[in-house]
Amino acid sequence: MIAIGSDHAGYELKTEIIKYLENKGCAVKDFGTYSADCSVDYPDYAVLVAKAVISGECEKGILICGTGIGISIAANKIPGIRAALCTNTYMARMSIEHNNANILALGSRVIGVGTALDIVDAWLEASFAGGKHEKRVEKISILEKEYKTGVEF
Ligand code: RB5
Repeated sequence: MIAIGSDHAGYELKTEIIKYLENKGCAVKDFGTYSADCSVDYPDYAVLVAKAVISGECEKGILICGTGIGISIAANKIPGIRAALCTNTYMARMSIEHNNANILALGSRVIGVGTALDIVDAWLEASFAGGKHEKRVEKISILEKEYKTGVEF
């Protein structure tokens, strides 16, 4: 199951990605927002998708806002989340191979629908390379523990 969420700026692209993934037979859980008409706050959707991933309810997540910046910054505040903002398929592939990203962040005002769908495909098809990258990702987890202040999920 893939968790997906966006703010109002990402709503249209979210709709396209859901349609695309469902047509491919992927199960998707939509955490909103459910309209482009109301201006909403991207951290509210980042946390919903992040919690779904951390709890194991969903294996991976996709988050979209206008630039992808705010929503990825917000998601990366949740311990265990590695949200990668990608603007091309190389970044998408590397975010999995080297960083084992568990959330893909996209900017709906930065890339078009075609590029976004290619990025989603590249991201879903990639696998974590492990090896020396395992140790580096583990160091991120250690940083989270060292600087941890907040709640458990
Ligand atoms: C909303 O206008 C916009 O600020 C938001 O979608 C995002 O780009 C923030 O990083």
